[in-house]
Amino acid sequence: MHPDGTDSAGTEAFGGRLLELLTGHALTMLISIGYRTGLFEATALGPATSVELAARAGLDERYVREWLAAMVAGRIITYHPDAGWYALPAEHAPLLTGTRASNIGPAAGTLRTLAAVLPSVERCFAEGGGVEFAEFASVAGADLGAQWRPIYDEHLVDGFLGAVPGLLDRLRTGARVLDLGCGTGHAVNLMARAFPASQFVGLDNSADALRLAEEERTGSMPEPENVEFQLTDAAELPAHPPYDVITAFDAVHDQRSPGLVLRRIHDALVPGGVFVMVDGNFSSRLERNLDNPHAALSYAVSLLFCLPTSRADGADGAGGLGAVWGRELATEMLTAAGFLDVRTYPSPRPQSCIFVCTHAG
Ligand SMILES: C[S@@+](CC[C@H](N)C(=O)[O-])C[C@H]1O[C@@H](n2cnc3c(N)ncnc32)[C@H](O)[C@@H]1O
Repeated sequence: MHPDGTDSAGTEAFGGRLLELLTGHALTMLISIGYRTGLFEATALGPATSVELAARAGLDERYVREWLAAMVAGRIITYHPDAGWYALPAEHAPLLTGTRASNIGPAAGTLRTLAAVLPSVERCFAEGGGVEFAEFASVAGADLGAQWRPIYDEHLVDGFLGAVPGLLDRLRTGARVLDLGCGTGHAVNLMARAFPASQFVGLDNSADALRLAEEERTGSMPEPENVEFQLTDAAELPAHPPYDVITAFDAVHDQRSPGLVLRRIHDALVPGGVFVMVDGNFSSRLERNLDNPHAALSYAVSLLFCLPTSRADGADGAGGLGAVWGRELATEMLTAAGFLDVRTYPSPRPQSCIFVCTHAG
């Protein structure tokens, strides 16, 4: 115990934790570099010296060697000093290479985008208001939505949609489907290809995102003809013509007027229609999230992106649900929007919850 009454062992332990955090932040930036430059892929090809790895990836050896040193000290890559070899352990490779959702490279890229808009978010602390989605989009460029693409490739059809009783049959038979807040459109393009008898609309109010969505559609082989994109504010979603199915992936908590948007969704469904909302799998109560290993990251990303974009019209009190609005509040708001039957289903990702709401008619 320190003479002033503080527990010096506790302070020392907390200092260690802070050092871990600073190290994690710096290494996350380097993981993003490794992902974007192809260094992880080059290292995964087999043990090699820094000269060989630089040649494999077509990069400058001195920078590669410093990156490798940080990766080795950070216990991400191993080093064999006698041979001068660096190696990516086989058990690390699925988390740092390849196109599967387990590769954290795109998530590291998202954090890099968020870091670039920190000054704008800091301004909101002093002035309130928010940050326009377009500011994030201009920093992210073609990386916009990149983190979710492999997740949809792996989990959309059998995972998220397959978890909803009867939905796959309905989509196979032919349904009119809206994906609200479709962003860069990967999910709706995938659905359109998987269910050719259904007609899809991808709706978003970001022209940047919809440009990428349309580019993906026209660049796909075969090009799906059963999907169109609409630049519309979800708060102005018309009730006619109605939809059989409406989906919203990670989009409702980003709304400026989420209560109104949920009512519009309810009113835009046919009787018996279904709304599938994939959103965060958290409690609305902070104290119930403390043992959830995804909570701190989700609250942080919420603060750096979801909260400021949802308050971007500058009106205090608008939007601002945050990504961790939680199952309890979500269920309450869905019920208030008119859905009498709100059920939740586990998703293939522990971070996400599938809310399924049926229009009673
Ligand atoms: C986190 S992104 C999710 C995008 C997409 N569903 C996905 O999973 O990749 C949230 C999306 O909601 C859109 N959005 C936010 N407010 C909106 C509004 N009022 N009307 C339409 N779209 C909106 C944003 O432009 C953004 O594309």
